[in-house]
Amino acid sequence: MSELIETSRNGAVLCVVIARPAKKNALTGAMYQALTAAFAQASGDEAIGALLLRGADGVFTAGNDIGDFLALGGHTETSPGMQFIRTLAAFDKPLVAAVEGPAIGIGTTLCFHCDLVYAAPNARFQMPFVSLGIVPEAGSSLLAPQRFGYARAAQYILLGESFGAPAALDLGLANAIVEPWQLYDHALEKAQALAAQPRDALLASRRLLRGDPAILKARMDEELRLFGEAVRSPQARAAFTAFMQKPKG
Ligand code: COA
Repeated sequence: MSELIETSRNGAVLCVVIARPAKKNALTGAMYQALTAAFAQASGDEAIGALLLRGADGVFTAGNDIGDFLALGGHTETSPGMQFIRTLAAFDKPLVAAVEGPAIGIGTTLCFHCDLVYAAPNARFQMPFVSLGIVPEAGSSLLAPQRFGYARAAQYILLGESFGAPAALDLGLANAIVEPWQLYDHALEKAQALAAQPRDALLASRRLLRGDPAILKARMDEELRLFGEAVRSPQARAAFTAFMQKPKG
């Protein structure tokens, strides 16, 4: 199991930290597997009432490891990333995110699956799929227009423009902007408040709020089909290679 995903218990909350700061918490296959395992642990343990997700060192996540995208080959369907996305979409307990700094790709799209999102003033969301020659994932092609309206979904997905915490609040992606020194405690307090609600009523209400899971699943299947083609295209491979070879700093 990857040590780059840290888990700890705080009362009835499972706290999960994405901790690969040297690579801006970019997610590798092993990290997705560890995330999937953490979500399964939270789902299967009666004592856990909510899961809280954050990134280490002032960064949420730079998204999928782009080197892993290059290595993905023909196995997108069974890739750890896709398995995590399915686990995330089907997760049956409240999910809270504390977002600081970059939240790119899946860093933004997983927020659609959260019940509560708290953002630091420096949070920076972006879904640069099209710019990288690939297509949206995690149901974001359905959930972004539902949440933002078509015009703004097109702006943030088709153009891949980034947006900050005030826009995330305005778009209904974030619940509040919280100063970095209070962010984790605030999110934890809210996760604990969710975990303390009457469990059956909470989980049933959450299912009602989310609507028909079959619609989301069908869209994710279609995204995955298109993603599998796009990720191996010359345009995508050129974009991934350009990022990996770019001087950084
Ligand atoms: N995959 C692989 N490595 C990544 C990464 C990613 N998604 N994001 C960052 N890194 C690595 C960089 O290659 C660099 O590694 P190096 O020190 O060995 O050269 C290190 O993390 C630091 O990144 P750097 O770009 O120098 O930091 P920055 O503060 O200037 O910029 C980001 C931070 C997150 C804005 C920038 O790294 C970025 O845009 N990352 C790619 C995001 C992305 O497109 N993700 C895919 C979404 S589908």
